[in-house]
Amino acid sequence: MRNDVLCIYYSRTGKTRRAVLEIAEVLGCEAVEVRDNVKREGTLGWLFCGFDAMRKGTRRLRKFNTAQPLDRYKLVILATPVWAGRCSSIIRGLLKRRGYEMQNVAYVITHASDNLYPIVFEQMDKYSLAPRVAAVSLRIDSVGYHFWRDQFITKVEDFLAHAEDIPQVEEIDEEEDEFKELERLFLRRGEEEDA
Ligand SMILES: Cc1cc2nc3c(=O)[nH]c(=O)nc-3n(C[C@H](O)[C@H](O)[C@H](O)COP(=O)(O)O)c2cc1C
Repeated sequence: MRNDVLCIYYSRTGKTRRAVLEIAEVLGCEAVEVRDNVKREGTLGWLFCGFDAMRKGTRRLRKFNTAQPLDRYKLVILATPVWAGRCSSIIRGLLKRRGYEMQNVAYVITHASDNLYPIVFEQMDKYSLAPRVAAVSLRIDSVGYHFWRDQFITKVEDFLAHAEDIPQVEEIDEEEDEFKELERLFLRRGEEEDA
């Protein structure tokens, strides 16, 4: 399993989960679900979802675990259902709070209608450090589903083949050691000059 890509998704009724798990399986990467503490099942839950999305409100997320800190992944793939023509408030909340930790992002959105919702990608871009690597808009079980899903995977694989490696933790430690050594030399020189 590759450890430089992470899929993070929210799924209320399983459709986004299905799409993202298929993508994660082909890429051979980790997939993690995020949720908040709001009861989102049933009619009342549906109304809360629409209400949160429309007022662009976000709520605190439940703790979730990833194999590495978010900034260690070369790419984070964020997957969300479309709610009222917008990003789900859960993924919006994740981006708002943790988007700055993600080096590179790609988006998967799922929806029920035939619209493509480019506006959702633009909303998500607001919280990202770098331009999105790839984005796909999927209607599960539509004729084009497999084609667009696979196009997305190809784009991601192409990016990963050319993206520079993020330095591993040991390399950062080595740089820190070099820095400390320089600091020691400077201090010693200062002491010698003072003497
Ligand atoms: C509150 C709410 C609002 C929705 N608004 C839209 C919408 O504006 N356009 C659309 O095509 N689908 C809309 N949907 C349908 C979902 O986006 C779609 O079924 C999605 O694939 C569900 O993903 P999930 O099963 O991972 O939750 C909405 C669903 C909910 C719950």
